[in-house]
Amino acid sequence: MHEVPGAWRRAARGAGLLTADGTAVPTIFAEMSALAARTGAVNLGQGFPDEDAPAPVLQAAHDAISSGRNQYSPGRGEPELLHAVAAHQQRFYGIRLDPEREVLVTAGATEALAATVLALVDAPEDEIVVFEPYYDAYAALAALSGARLVTVPLRFPDFQPDLTDLRRAVSDRTRLILVNDPHNPTGTVFAPEVVAEIVRLAERHDAVIVTDEVYEHLTFEVAHVPIATSPGAAHRTLTISSGGKTFRTTGWKVGWVTGPERLVQAVLAVKQWLTYVNAAPFQPAIAVGLGLDDAFFSGIADDLRQARDTLGVGLEAAGFAVSRPAGSYFTVADAAPLGARDAAEFCRELAHRAGVVAIPLTAFASDAHRAEYATLVRFAACKRLPVIEEASARLAAAF
Ligand SMILES: Cc1ncc(COP(=O)(O)O)c(C=O)c1O
Repeated sequence: MHEVPGAWRRAARGAGLLTADGTAVPTIFAEMSALAARTGAVNLGQGFPDEDAPAPVLQAAHDAISSGRNQYSPGRGEPELLHAVAAHQQRFYGIRLDPEREVLVTAGATEALAATVLALVDAPEDEIVVFEPYYDAYAALAALSGARLVTVPLRFPDFQPDLTDLRRAVSDRTRLILVNDPHNPTGTVFAPEVVAEIVRLAERHDAVIVTDEVYEHLTFEVAHVPIATSPGAAHRTLTISSGGKTFRTTGWKVGWVTGPERLVQAVLAVKQWLTYVNAAPFQPAIAVGLGLDDAFFSGIADDLRQARDTLGVGLEAAGFAVSRPAGSYFTVADAAPLGARDAAEFCRELAHRAGVVAIPLTAFASDAHRAEYATLVRFAACKRLPVIEEASARLAAAF
């Protein structure tokens, strides 16, 4: 077995991403998907939709491929997508952007995050503040950059951070405050006072705010408010999103980052040496998606809210304590009332006992804080309603 060479190996081992012999640690996502396939369980583990993209978006991709748009795009992205992203930010949030200077297309939100971290962090002095539990790529990117990851805990059931914890985490060493709103894995939408404190702390310590808003169109009782629209935030905020969750095209990997020209330029300087460009025919298709009518955008949130509610009924009937998410694909439930002590063990048993697969929240926590999330489980509701109804009924009947 060849070792992964380079400095990243050391950092990645520290972050629990590599085994002692340098091989990748198998993820719980792969284990749980394999378990679902083996047992016939409903897979509410990995967060990908089981329905296809809207017809006009699919048609636009077909048209782009058959009309020969299959070579490299311009470095910043296809002009119609740059313009569509700018128009989308104006239409939904009143954010005005210069599409040629303040928008950059990336290979999914993931590349936007990677290029941002690598462009803006000066390791090993710098720190990146994130909210924990966190989307697992954040720890990997911090390790890749060599910066230190500093976490602010989010606690069941509302998962809003304590402002004192937040103040303690941010200092003059903080280079980036990385905020995922709506939040994976907890489904929380950060309260206005939390956002105001993030902006105040970033100003005070001269940090850049990076927001991951891939679930921006999937909020329920509340409207999504990008942090870049908060007073004093725009000039120090990079906003990242992608088409994957909104248009059910997670395999296309079309993302973007928007913000002040000097910051976008820094991200571009790294991005062009990562993928250079990607997904030429899918970019115009996502541009079509961004221009769909309001009914499409409200419809996807309504459908997901219905799935959340249906799943919540089954979880409560089974005896879980359930957190009510305000956005994202996910619902977190506490299995402690069912006698669980270790969520990973519980999830393995759940596949057999209930015929449903989910992910332990410990998969999104650092070693130091894993114990705080030991009995919590994440269920993905981004499936067709009959699938969610079946999962809900199975859960209700199993306990
Ligand atoms: C919070 C968050 N950010 C980023 C991503 C990845 O986005 P993309 O597929 O556009 O790279 C995901 C996907 O699960 C996510 O949940």
